[in-house]
Amino acid sequence: MTSTLPAATAREGVERATVPPFAVISGGQVQGVLQGREAEIVELVAATYRLHGVGDSVNPPSYFLRFPDRPSARIIALPASIGGPIRVDGLKWVSSFPENVAAGVPRASAVLILNDHDTGYPLACLEASIISATRTAASAALAADWLSRGRPRPTRVGFVGAGLIARYIHMFLAATGWSFDEIGAHDLSAESAAGFRGYLEQSGTAGQVRVYDSAEELIRSSDLLVFATVAAQPHVSELSWFGHDPLVLHVSLRDLAPQILLASTNVVDDIEHCLKANTSPHLVEQLTGNRDFLLGTLDDVMAGRITVPAGRPVIFSPFGLSVLDLAVGKYVYDQVASAGDLHIIDDFFHELRRHG
Ligand SMILES: NC(=O)c1ccc[n+]([C@@H]2O[C@H](COP(=O)([O-])OP(=O)(O)OC[C@H]3O[C@@H](n4cnc5c(N)ncnc54)[C@H](O)[C@@H]3O)[C@@H](O)[C@H]2O)c1
Repeated sequence: MTSTLPAATAREGVERATVPPFAVISGGQVQGVLQGREAEIVELVAATYRLHGVGDSVNPPSYFLRFPDRPSARIIALPASIGGPIRVDGLKWVSSFPENVAAGVPRASAVLILNDHDTGYPLACLEASIISATRTAASAALAADWLSRGRPRPTRVGFVGAGLIARYIHMFLAATGWSFDEIGAHDLSAESAAGFRGYLEQSGTAGQVRVYDSAEELIRSSDLLVFATVAAQPHVSELSWFGHDPLVLHVSLRDLAPQILLASTNVVDDIEHCLKANTSPHLVEQLTGNRDFLLGTLDDVMAGRITVPAGRPVIFSPFGLSVLDLAVGKYVYDQVASAGDLHIIDDFFHELRRHG
């Protein structure tokens, strides 16, 4: 559908800029675009990290809204701007209500607003829990690829925390060429572990699926580890569990005690972002008073500016950059628009003449 909105002047006297029509993109449409395009999305995430790495982005700190009456809940505002061929501004507004899970509702829900580069007008509101999970999983798969180069390719993957993000990360690993002899999971909730096992069995994976009662046994048995819990503070502190130098995707950011990071090679997505909000890397900085424990960013690794040494665990802690949400969201928007399937809200912007 195309817009019936009249063109309007946004910056009078400078140039005539057209107010874009405002579209709403549903979760069904988002999933329809992203499904089966995992490898392309991983490439898009890599390109976005590169743009961010050369400074062609604005990605201010996230704002955490918390509630005295609901201490486990939060809603985070993540504004950002990305340049290059993507060229869009916007905001992800993402809720985390862990108690939802007991009621059978996913923990996270989100919308993404895309703003037009030239006029600043919002041009779309997208369902963003799928976009958020997708960019998180794509970034994890990208990190697994780059950080495993130069070491034996992992064949035993273990998931600590078996929720929605674990499922997406497994899906992205499988779709980008990874196959595992063993897939293990450990979760405090037997129901979550059983649900994840059910997903794995249905996914047609050739690997042997095993649920572990203890984190220790799973960690010792896995050479690629994914942390995707909702732990608010470190619950894994025993260095000897990591004696086999696994590659760790520390997506939930607060699982590992400082001594584990201090004995490992640490790679992040963005240093300033990651050293905030009491993430495990932030705890290490508070403990040591310096950032010497960080090797650099994933973009540094991809560009060859740093090399990951062998003989130590490698830990990737991605804070989760909103430029990635923008890149994936704009990709979805462009696909839906070019298929002619945008649901335009006619008359959304109504007062378009300054003086009536
Ligand atoms: N870094 C990023 O970019 C990024 C992006 C999205 C989500 N996340 C994080 O990923 C995590 C998982 O998200 P989700 O949507 O899958 O949540 P979810 O609630 O669906 O699943 C989390 C699971 O972890 C389990 N769990 C909690 N504490 C545990 C522990 N100590 N040991 C083992 N299992 C434990 C829970 O029982 C639950 O099944 C969240 O912390 C979220 O903030 C990070």
